[in-house]
Amino acid sequence: MLLVVEKKTNMNKVLKKEFQVKSVSLSGKNVEIVWQDNCQSSFDVNWLQMSTRSSKKFSADSYEYTDCPIYNTFQEVAVDKVQLSNNKILIDLGSGIEEIDASWLRAQDATISYSLPAFEEKVQWSNSFSILEHSYDEAIESNQWISDLDKFGIVKIKGVSPDDLEEKLDKITKKVGVLRRRFHPTDINVIEPKPNNISLDKAYTGGTLEYHTDAPYYDLPPKIAFLACKKLEGEPPINYFCDGFKAASELKETHKEAYNILSTYLVNLARRRLRSHQEDSSIEHSLYSWDTHTLTNIIVTNGFGEPEIIRIHSRSFSGFTSDYSGIQIKKFIEAYGSFIDLIKQDRFNVQMKLEPGNIVIIDNHRLVHARSKIQGNTARMIYSCYIDEYIWNSRLRFLLGERAEMDDVWLRGCTIDQLKILANRWE
Ligand SMILES: [Fe+2]
Repeated sequence: MLLVVEKKTNMNKVLKKEFQVKSVSLSGKNVEIVWQDNCQSSFDVNWLQMSTRSSKKFSADSYEYTDCPIYNTFQEVAVDKVQLSNNKILIDLGSGIEEIDASWLRAQDATISYSLPAFEEKVQWSNSFSILEHSYDEAIESNQWISDLDKFGIVKIKGVSPDDLEEKLDKITKKVGVLRRRFHPTDINVIEPKPNNISLDKAYTGGTLEYHTDAPYYDLPPKIAFLACKKLEGEPPINYFCDGFKAASELKETHKEAYNILSTYLVNLARRRLRSHQEDSSIEHSLYSWDTHTLTNIIVTNGFGEPEIIRIHSRSFSGFTSDYSGIQIKKFIEAYGSFIDLIKQDRFNVQMKLEPGNIVIIDNHRLVHARSKIQGNTARMIYSCYIDEYIWNSRLRFLLGERAEMDDVWLRGCTIDQLKILANRWE
């Protein structure tokens, strides 16, 4: 399907002062900018020459370099003049006057811009947090639930007839993109009728499901998980969802050593079998889906030491490498226990009973979830499916880019953090 992008531009819109240039000047090899909020930026002219997404450097149709600079001999750029016109920086970087988008420059400057209020930043749950709900029609017509999911890590879609659940779940997932696995006839796990081999996969039994994240044994676990309730007869179990990032942040503050251990010790997470629904299906599975392993941290952190992926799944744990001492293992066990104790605290949790026609969507890199026991006389059918992080990020980037209202050539190559800053550039 050809994606037609309609650019919405509103000439009456006003840029926030953080994105408006007050003055621009040259200082040696640097272009110095004073912004209307009185912050200052300094950009090396050689960096500008290489990076500026101008028509002189980038192809109008592919947005790729017309003459890729890494294959050229490096040459110092000499600049003698810089001007400001309509909030664009006009400068000759060696091949004629170019126009640089000032908003783009502002977003590039991590030293002053990363503290700007960004559009739909991730928000840790407050004590009164409750899950945001959208009707099915809202979810189809609007992308607000995608932003909410990025912001809070969980949303609920209501109002789907259980008879249409498969079709409507499919339509909701397609608002983001393709599912993680494509083995037909379905990517969707059906818990009832029970697979014959339920002992293989605890999620399919009625027993209590302890706190976990899904499939942490992949190098990148599935990012977005959908749980859709098709049928419920009898007493519903309770689903618990914990803001794992908030619990990890508190661990970092109150148990610094435990946080360091969980974010630096490497543990083996593995599976060596098909999952129950795969074993139970008549489909032949190629060997790649049998055996998984990753050597990773329980709390994977970003460059700033903040949690990025939580991996909690006791059944996947398969020990340490042989260089770990008994003392280190003891410390790890204590640190893991401290984290689990926090995860169980009410103040990090919301709970719900999934009703037929409900679809709960979670960020599986952030949320840790659990489920109470299912009573013997309860019949419950849940569909679940996943979307990978790169698909999710692409969808999110696209939404942010629409909000920023900038030409694609300038959006290309921005980080998600930069896109969030640019998406919030209008008054
Ligand atoms: Fe799960």
